[in-house]
Amino acid sequence: MLITDKQQFEKGIKRVLISEEELNEALDKCAKWIDKEYEGKPLLLVSVLKGAFIFLADITKRVTIPCEVGFMAAKSYFEGTSSTGNVEITYDLAKDISQYHVLIIEDIIDTGRTLKTILAELSRRKALSLKVVTLLDKPDRRVVELDADYSLFTIPDHFVIGYGLDYGEYYRNLPYIAEYGED
Ligand code: IMP
Ligand code: MG
Repeated sequence: MLITDKQQFEKGIKRVLISEEELNEALDKCAKWIDKEYEGKPLLLVSVLKGAFIFLADITKRVTIPCEVGFMAAKSYFEGTSSTGNVEITYDLAKDISQYHVLIIEDIIDTGRTLKTILAELSRRKALSLKVVTLLDKPDRRVVELDADYSLFTIPDHFVIGYGLDYGEYYRNLPYIAEYGED
């Protein structure tokens, strides 16, 4: 559905869960962890589109060691706000990762199915190491066993929007994370 009405748009924003200030503070800490963990190593930050695009940009600006960035996209098939379990890699990295320490930059681990698919595919390509940073973790919803190496925020089982995350492709532009709600 196309939304052009600002009032209708704003109705979907139920309440702010994580403010810009809280995001900035956590981003600074995470970038310091990356600097320390990967200093002196060839680093490739891999973002999973589209949800992680703002997170990747903000993290990359804060990292002070040399790094490259790469993009993948995965489509999870949704019914409403719940994924059906089918995950397809729709856009892939252009280069051989075997000479890199790969750090996946994810927006959210919900059921874990998307990340599991990405990890299985990248594991086959034998990077020097393979780790995961996630902005948000919703452990209550996990259906596959899997954890991030670094998680910025653990959140309860709410559908969230903003800072790259969407509902029906909208709300990615909010500078904070909010809970989505139908009126
Ligand atoms: P998975 O269930 O862990 O495979 O997550 C699949 C994808 O669903 C994530 O990468 C997000 O793009 C999206 N997703 C899961 N939970 C939320 C949410 O609360 N808000 C917005 N997108 C979500
Ligand atoms: Mg999405």
